[in-house]
Amino acid sequence: MLEAAAATIRRGGLVAMPTETVYGLAADATDARAVARIFEAKGRPRFDPLIVHVDRIERALHLTGQWPQAAHQLAEAFWPGPLTIILPRGDSIPDLVTAGLPTVAIRMPAHDWALELIRRADRPLAAPSANRFGHVSPTEARHVVGDLGSSVDLVLDAGPTACGIESTIVMPGEAGSVVLLRPGAITTERLEAVLGRKVAFPPAEPRSRGITAPGMLARHYAPRIPMRMVGLDAEVVYRPPGAGEWGLISPARVQHEGFAVAELLSPDGDMAEAAMRLFGTMRKLEEMSLDGLLAVAAPQGGLGGAINDRLRRASTE
Ligand code: TXA
Ligand code: MG
Repeated sequence: MLEAAAATIRRGGLVAMPTETVYGLAADATDARAVARIFEAKGRPRFDPLIVHVDRIERALHLTGQWPQAAHQLAEAFWPGPLTIILPRGDSIPDLVTAGLPTVAIRMPAHDWALELIRRADRPLAAPSANRFGHVSPTEARHVVGDLGSSVDLVLDAGPTACGIESTIVMPGEAGSVVLLRPGAITTERLEAVLGRKVAFPPAEPRSRGITAPGMLARHYAPRIPMRMVGLDAEVVYRPPGAGEWGLISPARVQHEGFAVAELLSPDGDMAEAAMRLFGTMRKLEEMSLDGLLAVAAPQGGLGGAINDRLRRASTE
């Protein structure tokens, strides 16, 4: 199967590949026509650049002109793993991959199949999450098939993904600083422990096109029903905020009544478990013909930040 997938990549096809975070829609990052097919299949605007996946450091070095100390430290600590590093781009990939930006996003995924696919295809792979643009990211192969169907040439099904939310995206900045562009599966605390300094945050929203992280659109990861987000309070008994059938989704255990369905992602308060179940549960709830979803925030700190980022972007108000 991996050999067939590698051959598909080499002839410019699209392969849905498992990673430790979510399924990616992969194509040869050096082939502009193959990359164009990714944008088409996802319905993704071309101003939103793609992450390039590599299987070893030498392949990463080939994509960028610079390898600052912070990149070295972070790659050493977290690759292969759910960390994407934004670096000045070299000229080995087409403009379409980076949406014309002077930088390229690089990551080495911690999944044997993904690493083996890159190795066998012998190409860096451009791969966004394998969902329709703006929809919830896929954590199972059937989510990919449901969203993208026949526009994918081959789907590698390795079962549910381990992390369940996307990689953390960072950009080395001035004087050894590191800017956090997207919270993700590597927590801020872990980054800071390795760097020995605080990470920085990009200037506040609203973000516009053509800035450092054009894909960080305010509304994203959204289920197809209205979703509202509220804070976490152990004293509160949560109730549906409107008429009709409502669903509740909460990373931790909360008190509630009156919901048609209530999903507590981790009754024990384990946010790694909650992250793993988040997108699959959102997809399950959107299939249930509910009138709306009430999302309760995760506790602050650790993976709570990344989970809350996804819930906020999925919320309609
Ligand atoms: O875990 C992940 O990162 C998954 C798996 C498949 O690797 N991929 C993923 O890709 O989440 P995608 O395309 O759904 O999200 C990538 C984000 C987008 O928001 C994009 O705008 C941003 O990375 N990005 C890509 N290149 C960039 C660059 N040069 N500068 C700033 N942001 C960039
Ligand atoms: Mg995505």
